[in-house]
Amino acid sequence: MKQSPFAKVEAAPPDPILGLTEAFNADKNPNKVNLGVGVYQDENGRVPVLATVREAERRWYEKEDSKSYLPIDGVPGYNKAVKELLFGAGAEIVNSGRVITVQALGGTGALRVGADFLRRFFPEAKVWISNPSWENHRALFEAAGFEVTTYPYYDAATHGLDFSAMFECVKNIPDGDVLLLHASCHNPTGVDLSEEQWHELADVLANKQIIPFLDFAYQGFYRGIEEDAYAVRLFANKGLQFLVASSFSKNFSLYRERVGALSFVTADEEEAKRVLSQVKRVIRTNWSNPPSHGAQVVALVLNDQELRAEWVEEVAQMRDRIRKMRHLFVTKLREKGIDRDFGFIERQNGMFSFSGLDAQTVERLRSEFSLYIVRSGRICVAAMNEKNIDYICDAIATVLKG
Ligand code: LMR
Repeated sequence: MKQSPFAKVEAAPPDPILGLTEAFNADKNPNKVNLGVGVYQDENGRVPVLATVREAERRWYEKEDSKSYLPIDGVPGYNKAVKELLFGAGAEIVNSGRVITVQALGGTGALRVGADFLRRFFPEAKVWISNPSWENHRALFEAAGFEVTTYPYYDAATHGLDFSAMFECVKNIPDGDVLLLHASCHNPTGVDLSEEQWHELADVLANKQIIPFLDFAYQGFYRGIEEDAYAVRLFANKGLQFLVASSFSKNFSLYRERVGALSFVTADEEEAKRVLSQVKRVIRTNWSNPPSHGAQVVALVLNDQELRAEWVEEVAQMRDRIRKMRHLFVTKLREKGIDRDFGFIERQNGMFSFSGLDAQTVERLRSEFSLYIVRSGRICVAAMNEKNIDYICDAIATVLKG
């Protein structure tokens, strides 16, 4: 009999982050909590549709008059608005024609198009990611054909950044390699470079032929929309050439719409045009041209003064709620009599807390309490609320004491 061509395909392990959501969805425990995936939930545990998004969708529904293809690089008004959001409206660089921004399928799609582009033109390059980094970084760059290696980043002893080790390593990265950096709200640690450290790093990069690639998925979740773009704007002002992958999954709560962008800062307008022509080729062989809805919604909000101001406020509310949850989490853990000091959680930025809980603890929390945490100990603080916080902290206390 003819054998199936797939007979020898081995089962892949579940994804370290999205696989947890699959397991969570199948879990029958009514008290279950998913602190795995990086998704913001409101005080009632719901992933909100922002009011500004609802309003933009209503307007777009009235306005949309065609379902024809978009240009390969996406909605023009979206690309322009994203460029200004990243580099600053009115900034010299935005008007210079040196920057190109193309629409992508979320931050991941932007990273992948960037990776495919780099692989085409720098096939010998190695990609350097932080230790640790977002689980999908290594997988994604390896899937694009790169060898991936790490630079020192997190210091478990201080729960902070080991900047001197990072700096020494970066200084010695061979020319031609790619350096992946988290622009703000480092995933998974929540530990970022200070402004001074960004300066030191940018100065080193200005004298090297390394290609920086900034992953910027959490704009607005640390200090503010403008403030969080610090590294991106600094690199541009220092005259570096680099890539930025950005995303509206989190700050517009548009996860399933897959709205992201890839930007290149090049040396001049003529170079930018050549790069764009090649990026379009990469997109054409990936998804041909992007979907419309999410990008139109974001463009509508960003290009309308009132809606934009309202959106900035919505992001501030999300950011403030997460800060409050960090504080409550640390306070409750202390109240439950845990000796270990978790105070560092309040110093971390963004959605995640790199808790220091080991793999065995994480496993027990899942099997005994249906509390889902990434194996590295990364906890999504943005999924905590006043209703589930006691359950979460009791579970952690029980496991840590037992
Ligand atoms: C996360 O890190 O949890 C998010 O960025 C979602 C994802 O795609 O992994």
